Amino acid sequence: MKAAGLYKHLPIDQKESLIDQETDIPAPGERDLLVKMKAVSVNPVDTKLRSKGEEEENLKILGWDAAGIVEKTGAAVTGFKPGDEVYYSGSVSRQGTNSEYHLVDERIAAEKPKNLSFEEAAAMPLTSLTAWEGLFERLGISECPEDNDGKAILLIGAAGGVGSIALQLAKRAGLKVVGTASREETEQWARKNGADDIITHYEPFKKQLEEIGVKNLDYIFCLNSTDQHWEAMIEAIAPQGKICSIVETKEPQDISLLQQKSVTFVMEFMFTKALFGTEDMESQGEILRKMAHLFEKGELHSTLTETIRPFNAESLKKAHQKLESGKTIGKIVVSGFGE
Ligand SMILES: NC(=O)c1ccc[n+]([C@@H]2O[C@H](COP(=O)([O-])OP(=O)(O)OC[C@H]3O[C@@H](n4cnc5c(N)ncnc54)[C@H](OP(=O)(O)O)[C@@H]3O)[C@@H](O)[C@H]2O)c1
Repeated sequence: MKAAGLYKHLPIDQKESLIDQETDIPAPGERDLLVKMKAVSVNPVDTKLRSKGEEEENLKILGWDAAGIVEKTGAAVTGFKPGDEVYYSGSVSRQGTNSEYHLVDERIAAEKPKNLSFEEAAAMPLTSLTAWEGLFERLGISECPEDNDGKAILLIGAAGGVGSIALQLAKRAGLKVVGTASREETEQWARKNGADDIITHYEPFKKQLEEIGVKNLDYIFCLNSTDQHWEAMIEAIAPQGKICSIVETKEPQDISLLQQKSVTFVMEFMFTKALFGTEDMESQGEILRKMAHLFEKGELHSTLTETIRPFNAESLKKAHQKLESGKTIGKIVVSGFGE
């Protein structure tokens, strides 16, 4: 099968940063689906893993977002059969999706939303799982609008991949949703996806929130530059409020700043469940099924903004370059397998 991957971890402008290679089609394990890929999406995890690390002995395949068709199933698979159309993110401890065929544990996959194209569907799994787990599991927000009357959330980095779907989920849950964006295009996109108000991530948040009438900020979902925003988040959050970040810190941060207001701070990593095989690992399949239902009902929409074809290392390099600019709006997908 055709795959794109790397042996050396290099900047994207280097010829060998991503290369095309023929590899064997992998054989499914007990609970695996062998999926024929139709479209994949890129995420910052791809660019982070591409650029750092020791030289690889075997081709390292990146990519943790896919939509495709089940080709074969492992002996213990019960939920899927060949021919099923699926979408999923996968596990960072296994090979990624940048290849013609890919293996995924059935517990973290779901049937693709019927009303979305393969490209529109491939854009969604990783960011949807991150947004869902961050909002409803880590921050403990209720999905029912009646429970969230009068409550407000700030989404930092609202127009990016995760932000674009987190806005939709937060709005649907009945919260007052404030997003951050620093450009006209990102402000417009964030408003289109559910932001009631927009402030900038280049000025302290508290004063800007007061100016738009948000006096009590119950939740913050930090989707970019945790270090940069650490003090501004703690200054802006309400007493006993909750902050969730999905971005690792590069510097140690002072957690004692959380104490005076009794603030809860929590990290979200959407690969935790698959990485540790946690007891609730199957919840990722369930979340993707719930999301598929919401896409089909028209309550959520795909955040796909750009498709690059055909599938090869060159197209993936273009996608990585765009992501590394830090100015992505919504999601970029690579498709055109076999073209
Ligand atoms: N923990 C997890 O499970 C998990 C999952 C997914 C992603 N992540 C991480 O979350 C981060 C965001 O991922 P993503 O896919 O949403 O990224 P993305 O699509 O690349 O985000 C792009 C957006 O970031 C905004 N931005 C740029 N600089 C910013 C800053 N200093 N403060 C706030 N926003 C800023 C930009 O808005 P403007 O153009 O308006 O400035 C742009 O729209 C990445 O670091 C990624 O690795 C973690």
